[in-house]
Amino acid sequence: MDPKDFIYKTPQLLPDLAIYTSEAPSNIALVKYWGKYGEQLPKNTSISYTLEKCKTQTEVILKKRIEADDQFYFEVFLDGESKPSFKSKIDTFLKRIEVYTPFLKSFQFEIHTKNTFPHSSGIASSASGMAALAKCFVAMEASVQPEMTEAFQTQKASFLARLGSGSACRSTGGKLVVWGQHQDIKGSSGFYGVDYRDEVHNNFRNFRDSILLIDEGQKQVSSSVGHDLMHGHPFAEQRFQQADQNITKLKPILASGNFDEFFALVESEALSLHAMMMTSSPYFILMKPNTLEVINKIWEFRTSEKVPVGFTLDAGANVHLLYPEASETRIRVFIDEHLLQFCQGEKVIHDQIQF
Ligand code: PMV
Repeated sequence: MDPKDFIYKTPQLLPDLAIYTSEAPSNIALVKYWGKYGEQLPKNTSISYTLEKCKTQTEVILKKRIEADDQFYFEVFLDGESKPSFKSKIDTFLKRIEVYTPFLKSFQFEIHTKNTFPHSSGIASSASGMAALAKCFVAMEASVQPEMTEAFQTQKASFLARLGSGSACRSTGGKLVVWGQHQDIKGSSGFYGVDYRDEVHNNFRNFRDSILLIDEGQKQVSSSVGHDLMHGHPFAEQRFQQADQNITKLKPILASGNFDEFFALVESEALSLHAMMMTSSPYFILMKPNTLEVINKIWEFRTSEKVPVGFTLDAGANVHLLYPEASETRIRVFIDEHLLQFCQGEKVIHDQIQF
């Protein structure tokens, strides 16, 4: 598929007044995206698990404007409360998608959104938020184009979501989603996420992700600033190569069910992402002392108890504890007894990946 295939061509058919609702989950990358070029295209391929419980639910209410002009007219509400501070990011998103959704300036609209996880938790809501919004716009098109297949709707939603937040394109459909063109992944593209269709051992299905909230609150570095810091970064090219090689290495690991190799790769990815931030100019340390406490506890527990468990990190201090369903009982006890004390307000969100 080419970007021009996603241009909507028959805006005159759209209703004057309509409401569209959608929801999209958060995702957690196993191989991380960090660094972009052109119009939100990734410098390397990434792959993520789609979470089940951390979601954004969005409703868009649209009303045709009497006279359209060259501006977007919209309001954003989070949990029923007006959020003018969200507008600039959404305005940038709307400008980027305008060529593919040329009808949006003819409407005034309200975006009502809510998350199933606390907004202040430090869990990025931009992936699920942009994905849910993109799905609403695609639902609008689909309502007057019955010939639009489910597969095309998912692909267009992913294509649009990417223009809001890169990782959002991995949140519009699928359970294990790849984004970025890669020689070893058939059909992969930098324009949208695709379902990982190669073999996945049962060990890596029905996985658990317990998100340990080490530090609630705003991110210290926005991801757009973070991606920009990869331009001119002394280790950027090596990092992009490493990530692409990790996709190649992950394939046989996913097929074989080997936990040790899986966690070695996934943890190295998380630490490499943070290493990029520590070595950029300016530099940032996004982990907190308790992030390291938790990581050390996980390593001790894994060595002494021989239980398959490992971690990954996003661009922040929270720790995603990954483990198979079969270890759930033991890991829950481990979390309660040894990790909760390092979480802010002893908070943890138990999510899962089911497929
Ligand atoms: O989608 P963005 O631009 O917010 O980038 C997020 C990148 C990471 O979450 C740090 C890694 C990833 O691949 O999800």
